[in-house]
Amino acid sequence: METIMAAPDRPGPAAFIPPMPPPAPDRVGALGVLAGLRRNAYSAFPPRCRAQAVVVLPMPGRDVVIAAGPQAIRDVLATRPELYRRIAAGDRIFRPLIGRGVAASEGQAWRRQRRILAPAFTPRTVTLLAPHMAACTEAALGPLEASRGAPVDLLAVMQDLSLAVACTSMFSLETDVFGPQLRGLLQSYAGGIGRPRTSDFILPRWVPTPTTIRRAGFRRRWRALILAIIAQRRAAQAPGAPRDLFDLLSEAYGDREADLLADEVSTMIFAGHETTGLTLFWACYLLANAPDWRDAVRREARRVDLSPGGAGAAVGALPLTRAVVDEALRLYPPAYMTARQAVADHALCGVPVRRGAIVLMPFTLLHTDPRLWAAPERFDPGRFLGPGKPDRQGFLPFGTGPRVCIGAQLATSEAVLVLARLLRDNDLVLDDGPPVLPVGSFATRPDRSPTFRLLRAA
Ligand code: HEM
Repeated sequence: METIMAAPDRPGPAAFIPPMPPPAPDRVGALGVLAGLRRNAYSAFPPRCRAQAVVVLPMPGRDVVIAAGPQAIRDVLATRPELYRRIAAGDRIFRPLIGRGVAASEGQAWRRQRRILAPAFTPRTVTLLAPHMAACTEAALGPLEASRGAPVDLLAVMQDLSLAVACTSMFSLETDVFGPQLRGLLQSYAGGIGRPRTSDFILPRWVPTPTTIRRAGFRRRWRALILAIIAQRRAAQAPGAPRDLFDLLSEAYGDREADLLADEVSTMIFAGHETTGLTLFWACYLLANAPDWRDAVRREARRVDLSPGGAGAAVGALPLTRAVVDEALRLYPPAYMTARQAVADHALCGVPVRRGAIVLMPFTLLHTDPRLWAAPERFDPGRFLGPGKPDRQGFLPFGTGPRVCIGAQLATSEAVLVLARLLRDNDLVLDDGPPVLPVGSFATRPDRSPTFRLLRAA
């Protein structure tokens, strides 16, 4: 990766080095890594997992394999996906939310679900949905700008905003009534019984534990809410209204597959906002600590039309803002890791992997590998600008291969538009306090929600 000269409009690497938790001690074994994942994926892996492309940690019953090298991750996710399946831990943690939705299904069922969704996630969709994104952003920023100088919980603002975008753009629904309930349930799940347990990785799918029983209780409450949302959406359908993702799903699944329809709606609401809200929070946190980049984003934002009418064209006209979003996704990938289970004995980058082994692929390690990134510890969006752009296989916040994130373009477009609009008229200031550390548990969340203040930008 070549170092890029700072252009007049593009600051050099920021002096800010984002604080990160220390890695696990080198002696830690499979059980130590699995226990560490419950606390924080950012400190669960020992340094040797970064130094070697594939590390096998033996465990009775099934090995744990850490694959953090770009070739190893590509082999698992893209080149030889038939050698792997989704892991039981993923089912245990995410099924209470998304049931048999596309992100949880496999084989024929997955292919059919992905085919049904595909028309709703073409590049053209971004242009169609950008006005919704811009309108939701205006609505969310209005009250904040009216009370500039007051303390703001930007994490909550960004998560509410991305939920509003997901609901209005995909399902033509306002979030006033059920938004707080959705967020409340999700928060409690993500911060409590949704966090990975060691038992999630060790036990077969069907073995119950006290946590799985509590997760089943959560599922009943979550599902009741999703069904109420679907009923409201059906009741509110205006004749002649433009078709949205809900119409597409509803036609494909009909009444015969009402359960699957509910699972897919859950998937889109959950996957469509939690991660994007976190990306926006981290981008704000980084920019509040890097005033040169914050000002550069502002200069860029002031050159484009960010109103709902102009948003579709604006997405492609904000490369510097996009680089900030990419750098936030590099340092704090909301989906900090993915995992698969080997279905046959085979070799991965020359290392023998036994059938049944759990292969963990921490994007956090890939994204900070010094062989792929110059000064990886630094916040430097400039690495994503200009001719020396990073090797795509070293940057996988959305995964890769057939199961790559279906909403990647929507998520990055939304993050770019929201960030540009926020910074266009406002300075972001962070109230002093202890450093904010990433916690990779359910997704990459901050260890505390720091207080920001918005000030009128000159
Ligand atoms: C910054 C935001 C986002 C991040 C970081 C992210 C990350 C990811 C990653 C890493 C995967 C692959 C997981 C794997 O291979 O195991 C994935 C899959 C998926 N994402 Fe996203 N995502 C984001 C936003 C979205 C949005 C906006 C939507 C929908 C509107 C979405 C829907 C999905 C779905 C349905 C899958 C499963 C695809 C499949 O299994 O075929 N995501 N996402």
